[in-house]
Amino acid sequence: ENQKQSIDERLLAICNLLESNVGYYNWVGFYFRNGDKEELVLGPYVGAPTDHTVIPFGKGICGQVAVSNQNFVVPDVSAQDNYIACSISVKSEIVIPIFVDGKNIGQIDIDSETPDPFTDADERFLEFVCKKVSEILS
Ligand code: SME
Repeated sequence: ENQKQSIDERLLAICNLLESNVGYYNWVGFYFRNGDKEELVLGPYVGAPTDHTVIPFGKGICGQVAVSNQNFVVPDVSAQDNYIACSISVKSEIVIPIFVDGKNIGQIDIDSETPDPFTDADERFLEFVCKKVSEILS
């Protein structure tokens, strides 16, 4: 049964589901706040390994979402000054925060090799996924 799956296994399954079912979701992963520290740590992910396993608050798209508590849709990563490149094949990115008891505890980060692919429907869908993740974590 589901209870036998650890939280990380369940989060990895979500990454796999998203990456394998949406053609323009090419890297899907979770970053979580590291306790009381103002930094994010990489959690389960699917896609190319990244050197950026720790991201300070404020740095890159992910670090900005940790501070703003807002969705961040980037149609063209090359137009961003505050951006951390993980792979040169990435063209666009979407980051959606995850809230537990009203606190921003992490995020889903998705990279795409397609330019400007993310719509309002992606935001609404990923907000729904983040709510489910929030339930898994609380
Ligand atoms: N591009 C992100 C860094 C994480 S990688 O996409 C996996 C950023 O600018 O925060």
